[in-house]
Parts: sequence; C-alpha cells; structure tokens
Amino acid sequence: MTALTIPECDVDLFDDEVLRDPYPTYSLLRHMGPVVRLRKHGFLAVARYADVRAVLNDPEHFISGSGVGFNDEFNQVRASSIIASDEPRHDMLRSVLGERLGPRALKGVDNLIRERASELVAEAARRDSFDAVKDFGEVFPVQVVGELIGLPVDKRSHLLRWANGAFNAFGPPGERTSAGLADIAEQFEYIRTVATREHLAPGSMGAAVYEAADRGLIPEESCLPLLSAYLTAGMDTTVNALAAMIHLLGTHPEAWRELRENPELVPSVVNEVLRIEAPAQLFSRVAAHGAQVAGVPVEAGERVAVIYASGNRDENQYPDPDRFDIRRNPAGHLTFGSGLHVCAGQHLAKIELRAVLEALIGQVDAITVGEPVRKINNVLRGLTSLPAAFTARGSEQS
Ligand code: HEM
Repeated sequence: MTALTIPECDVDLFDDEVLRDPYPTYSLLRHMGPVVRLRKHGFLAVARYADVRAVLNDPEHFISGSGVGFNDEFNQVRASSIIASDEPRHDMLRSVLGERLGPRALKGVDNLIRERASELVAEAARRDSFDAVKDFGEVFPVQVVGELIGLPVDKRSHLLRWANGAFNAFGPPGERTSAGLADIAEQFEYIRTVATREHLAPGSMGAAVYEAADRGLIPEESCLPLLSAYLTAGMDTTVNALAAMIHLLGTHPEAWRELRENPELVPSVVNEVLRIEAPAQLFSRVAAHGAQVAGVPVEAGERVAVIYASGNRDENQYPDPDRFDIRRNPAGHLTFGSGLHVCAGQHLAKIELRAVLEALIGQVDAITVGEPVRKINNVLRGLTSLPAAFTARGSEQS
C-alpha cells in the first residue's frame, strides 16, 4: 500500500555534482515513493516510470500553462510558448508545428538528411581524430534544422549557445539560470531581426509559421515563441543525443560490432541511446485541484518536477536499466515526453539519428573515443567535448 504522506529529502537536482551524475539521485527518489518533496527548492518530484507517464498523460490535473521551468522569470518569459500552454491554445499552436514536423511532411527531407549525414561521417573518417561534440554532433542539427527553418547560412553561429542557455534558464534562481535568461533575450532579438518574414527561405518551416499568422490560424504574437521553440528544442537536444550515441558505441565495441552485423537493429539502437541518456532530463508541471500521483494527493498549486530521465532508468520498467543493451528496443521510453506535449520534433530527431547511424555502418569499421568532458546544464545532459576517431571501412586491411 502507498503511504499518503509525501516524504521529504534534501537532494538538490541542480547541484553541479548531481548534474555530473544524476542517476544515483534519481534512484534514491524512485525508492522514496511516487512523489517526493525536495526541501531545497520547495517543489515536488516524480521519478518512477509509471508515474512520470501518468502525470504527463493527465494534463487536466498537471498543467503546463503556469510554465514548465523552475523559476518565475523564465515561466513569464516563456508564457506564450507552446510548451507552456494548455488546451485549447496548445492545440492551435501545435497544429502549425504538427503540419511540418509529422512523418508525412518529413518524407521529402529524409534524403537530404541522409546525404548530409553521409558527408559528415565521410569528413570525420578522413581525419586522424576529431571532436565528436564540436566537429560532429554540433554541425549536423544546426545544418539540418537551420535549413528546414530557412535561416540564412551565414547567420547561424550563436544558435547553439542560445539553445544551451535557454535550457539552463529552466533552472531554479541562480547564476547559471540568470546567464541562460540573458541568452534567451539574445535569441529573441535574433528572431526579431534575422528570422523574419523577409529573411526566411520561401517554403521553409520558419516561413510557414508566418504564413499561419497571415492566414489567421495563429495570432501574430505567437510567431516569435514558435520560432524560438524550433531554435531551442530542435538543436541542442539532438546535438547531445548524437554525442551520446558516439560515446556509447565507442565505449561498447561489442555493441558496435553487433550493430554492424545486424543493421536492422538501427531503430532499436536509437531508442536505447535516447533511453539511457535522455538529452532533456526533466521539466515540470503545476498541480490543479484533485491532482494525485499513484493515489497520493498533491495540493493544487504545487510545482512538480517530472523526471523523464529517471523514468527511463526505472528497474521496474527496464531490467538492469543502467546497461546499454542494443537489443532492448525500449520504444516506450520517456525521452520525448508523453501525451499532449510529446515532442513535436521526435520524427525529425529520429531521422537524424538513424541517418548518422546508417552512414556510420556504411563507412566506418571502428569507433574510438577518449575521455569525455561533461556538460553542466540545468536540464540538458550532454558533453562539451569528446575526442574521437573513426577507422574508415576497409582501411584496416590496406
Ligand atoms: C533528441 C532530440 C529531442 C529531445 C530529447 C526532445 C525532447 C522533448 C521533450 C521531453 C518534450 C516534452 C516537453 C513537455 O513534456 O513539456 C519536447 C517537446 C517539444 N519538442 Fe522536442 N526534443 C528533441 C528534438 C526536437 C526537435 C528536432 C524539434 C523541432 C525541430 C523539437 C521540438 C519540440 C517542440 C516544439 C516541443 C513542444 C511540444 C508541445 O508543447 O506540444 N524537439 N521535446
């Protein structure tokens, strides 16, 4: 039977040491109960797979409209964004993104992405060594998403810095969060001056946002937050997933060998990489009247951290959850969230990851990685640097 009181603990999810390796802390939270109060910042946390999924699929009792970050300033800045909206406003904004990011709409860009992935892998394999974050992971999503949004090629250099900052800005009040808020202000200014009707490529996803406003489908003031959603959610997340993929395959040569011999495992490997190292670890919801987690009542107005990355490591859902197992195919992982706000860009992200994996299988014999440098970000899990080398296919024998 579940106790109806909420246990309390002193862990700080945003402490540098916890951010470096959050998994023992998530495990502690999962063992404490379905919902735990984190005294340091005053909010609640949900960490078990079934409860994370249930909260995300109950938007009536766990709302996004009061913001999904952990400080008021951020939640106000992002107040008009899709991620911080409830029905019916959410539906209106989502229809614009859904139209362009659904599997059918993306059919046409699949080939372009494969071509880019193939070039990227070939270029990396030509070099003796490279950085899997800076020269690899960071190149691809900026190219692909930049092109899809229709951004001028020579005006993309700060996009990743702003996206990284925008994720820091979700955090509780503090230095890292404030720096992130300043990055969001710069990103907004960029959208106002560069990502405009006049500058975005005709027919692009970015231009479609302004067209939706022109057709009266969304209000004009929704254009900036929607473009910001593309620029924030669509870049640094995929960068970190790509770097995690290279790191995991480089440190698990037996898995890499098995994948090369069984290329039909590509979708399963993508899911397993996303499960074990969720690039966006957590967001939050605010409880409404009548909310409960696994039968435990939660008072209206309480902010609840929803830890996707912890659900993905729940032993009750995934046996031996810390093991990278490329045959597991954990299609139900929580890395893209679930329910109403489930990631609008997940098809695109999966196409990018699969394209890179297929290019690797086609062109690379061995993946070697060195010591990674961990990124410290309030929400994102990733690396700032990873020395790596690819042995081009066939070059071992020559
Ligand atoms: C590996 C890459 C990605 C990860 C891990 C990721 C993760 C997530 C998560 C967890 C959510 C749910 C937020 C919530 O529950 O409140 C989300 C929403 C969203 N994502 Fe992604 N994302 C990725 C790639 C992308 C891409 C490539 C795009 C677009 C180009 C994108 C656009 C969005 C948008 C617009 C939303 C808001 C959806 C809504 O509120 O209805 N994401 N993403």
